[in-house]
Amino acid sequence: MKHLIHLKVNGDDYELAVAPHRTLNEVLREDLALTGTKFGCGTGDCGACTVIMNGRNVSSCLTLAVEADGKDIMTIEGLTPSGEELHPIQEAFVAYGAIQCGFCTPGMIMSAKVLLDKNPHPDEPDIRAGLSGNLCRCTGYNKIVEAIEKAAHQMNQD
Ligand code: FES
Ligand code: FES
Repeated sequence: MKHLIHLKVNGDDYELAVAPHRTLNEVLREDLALTGTKFGCGTGDCGACTVIMNGRNVSSCLTLAVEADGKDIMTIEGLTPSGEELHPIQEAFVAYGAIQCGFCTPGMIMSAKVLLDKNPHPDEPDIRAGLSGNLCRCTGYNKIVEAIEKAAHQMNQD
């Protein structure tokens, strides 16, 4: 039996009938076509599926859609008002060579946003802790940490 849920996603309200076993990741990607949120491990380990729910970064693969009922969700598509220009975090990832693949990068950027929203002046350990749920098997993370430091600097000047 399906359940009626209400989500606010990137500022838009949705009413959806979802089966109880479906995850927030499935609903975002399959029902709302918000495929910027990725599906990696499906077990809460990689962070590729990270979205922001009521201000916290969560693994959308481990979050049932019914758990998200009434919640405010932001995906990578909602980072900027039009969805076309880049957010300062995205600009810094490009400028400082921190862009990794399309699977890990969106989740890293969403976790970086939560970090900078809570702590506008993070030091390196803060940044590494903020990204601790986001894995990339291909990088040493140094450029990502540097990009987030630069983004914080830029956002504090704006
Ligand atoms: S797909 Fe959700 S943590 Fe890996
Ligand atoms: S997992 Fe994306 S570049 Fe390594």
